[in-house]
Amino acid sequence: MPNTQDAQPVVAGSASCLVVDDEPGVRRSLVRMLEAQGFHCHEAGSGVEALAVLDRIGEPPLIVSDMRMPEMDGIGFLEAVRDRYPDTSVIMLSGLSETTTAVDCLHRGAADFLLKPISMSELQARVARALEKRALVLQNRYYQETLERRVHEQAQRIQELFLQGVQMLARALEAKDAYTRGHSIRVSRYAVATARSMGFEGGSLDGIRLGGELHDIGKIGTRESVLHKPGTLTADEFRQISEHPVLGERMLSPLARESPDVLRIVRSHHERLDGRGFPDGLRGEQIPIEARIVAVADAFDAMTTRRPYRESRPPDQAMAELRRVAGTQLDPEAVEAFVAAHAWSEQVA
Ligand SMILES: [Fe+2]
Repeated sequence: MPNTQDAQPVVAGSASCLVVDDEPGVRRSLVRMLEAQGFHCHEAGSGVEALAVLDRIGEPPLIVSDMRMPEMDGIGFLEAVRDRYPDTSVIMLSGLSETTTAVDCLHRGAADFLLKPISMSELQARVARALEKRALVLQNRYYQETLERRVHEQAQRIQELFLQGVQMLARALEAKDAYTRGHSIRVSRYAVATARSMGFEGGSLDGIRLGGELHDIGKIGTRESVLHKPGTLTADEFRQISEHPVLGERMLSPLARESPDVLRIVRSHHERLDGRGFPDGLRGEQIPIEARIVAVADAFDAMTTRRPYRESRPPDQAMAELRRVAGTQLDPEAVEAFVAAHAWSEQVA
């Protein structure tokens, strides 16, 4: 037997409780005992009446109910209460010593089961124990929900800080080179406009925006002498530069769970439809669609800006070149969507 003397005295204050018993004498006596413990009591003479009272007063912390009542028996009432007011502690009372009924009540979620006649001290101790358990359950749930929310908020903040860091890195990387300044932001804008005209929306556009902005982040690991070399690259230099998609994907691995599309863009923006791209030699639809879109935007921006090894081309020539390599290097649908989006933005400008 648990030592009921150790139970915390309940601080009922103005807490309400509902007493349900079809015998007015028993009900009054229960009400007196509970009022002495500080409860504000509501009364009902049957399960049906009790449910009507609950409809009116809302969810009380405590219900003390008889088992044998007309209209709806104690078990039926207990089930209805558990269903509608799961945070209420229900203590069941019975005049009959039936083990199976007691077990049944506890099994169906009653906080306790008491046999009549009940002494004041016993009732008060059992009530205190039931309410202490209820308070712990509610507290536990509160802590769990608060903790989950805080963990989520902190994870989001960590990701934000990480993103700010890599965005600053991407800009720092471009700022060192007059030829590529603004490249990532333009690629990002072109890619988003293209994706939008292909029907992308919401979160997938956000992924493309960020992927466009960070697509070359892996170049941070490429030597500047190679990055800015005006002439043709040697095989070794080409190997070094072609490592940037994989390196970039590795750098951005903290985004793997929340933004896998960003990682796909970074890894696959140099793949070609004919399988002659890098790093994986993917073909056609094996190449993630987001990466195919960014590849078009990347190619257009590279052609329309001046590079150490060549002059820039006018937009209409660059567009014609995109169409010429559509189907071998670039995705034809993405190229057409880009051309359409670009024509529309020109009209608006
Ligand atoms: Fe690249």
